[in-house]
Amino acid sequence: MTLPRRAVLAAAGSPVLAGGAGAQPAEGLGARARAQGIAFGTAVDGNRLADPRYAAQVAAEARLLVPEWEGKWSALQPAEGRFEFGPLTTLVEFASRHGQALRGHTLLWHRAMPDWLAARLAEGADRARAVLAAHLDAVLPRMAGAIRDWDVVNEAVANAGGPFTENTPAIGDLRDTPWLRALGPGYVDLAFRLARERDRTLRLTYNEYGVEGDTPFAEEKRRRVLRLLRRLVEARVPVDALGIQAHLMLDEPFRPEPFAAFLQEVRSLGLAILITELDVREAAVVPPDLAARDALVAARVQAVVGTALEVGCRTVLTWGLSDRDSWLAQEPAVMRRDGTIHRGLPLDAEGRRKPMWQALDRAFAARGRG
Ligand code: XIL
Repeated sequence: MTLPRRAVLAAAGSPVLAGGAGAQPAEGLGARARAQGIAFGTAVDGNRLADPRYAAQVAAEARLLVPEWEGKWSALQPAEGRFEFGPLTTLVEFASRHGQALRGHTLLWHRAMPDWLAARLAEGADRARAVLAAHLDAVLPRMAGAIRDWDVVNEAVANAGGPFTENTPAIGDLRDTPWLRALGPGYVDLAFRLARERDRTLRLTYNEYGVEGDTPFAEEKRRRVLRLLRRLVEARVPVDALGIQAHLMLDEPFRPEPFAAFLQEVRSLGLAILITELDVREAAVVPPDLAARDALVAARVQAVVGTALEVGCRTVLTWGLSDRDSWLAQEPAVMRRDGTIHRGLPLDAEGRRKPMWQALDRAFAARGRG
């Protein structure tokens, strides 16, 4: 049977595939977002790229990638002066084959530190400055062709109590870490300055979590992050953007207003806003049926991402694509305790799109260019 030409053209022009669960766009979220002037992507674990199912999802859905571990110190410099670019290069090559951009994560963090590093930092400020400079000297030029945007400092601000198992004693507003002990609060300034000195063309991002909720904990975290960013901007430290991790938790309430007000303040400092690690931890007690669970996840994602897009955020990354390949399914600190897995990513464990996928698509369509 031949179809009338008009029908063929209509089918070709409309990016919709008939599917069991209703019409689904054939293109991935990355393409859908790009049509609205938004960059959408995901964290990628290079070890999993050998799995064709995983690689196909990443290729289909993301226009932007971030290494889940390959850009951290423990991966890049496992022994002092011995740099390992193999795992990160796997991602550079994958991204380049699929026309995807890559962002960097992360040049300074208190976790994923190789053992030797803590020992060096304990030797004092000069030593600490030298190892940081040496790391940036090796990593930034090597990745300059592939990575134009780096999380320079990750999670420097201390938590004030709150829902996190990891306790974070503070010195001032900052988390007590080997970097802070070695260099004082100026270590944040130093990291940004050293990065800018080495490459003036990079976008330099400060990345943080715990700032989304409508809780006293998040309110205080927002105040602390704002104080830090204000100080950096006033001191002319070259910070360009705030990365909002957005590891959301449904046990926490959310209201758009305080989150939007915070983001507006950040924008008024001249900084861009990115959502860098979006995923959702469901509540301890979830509704019995999957549809109701997925609706709760989708509603929260739409509210949070919608708010960020409204204040000009144009970059959104999830921390993985499918519930099966997520740290939320593997790490004791964030896993469910009832033997099930969180349904907090756009694809389910079998790789099928969930309401969170549609929620992102709708948020992009509503707050894109127009
Ligand atoms: C996580 C990874 O997903 C895990 O596989 C790893 O074991 C620990 O780090 N905030 C961040 C990310 O900035 O780097 C973290 O990634 C998740 C929390």
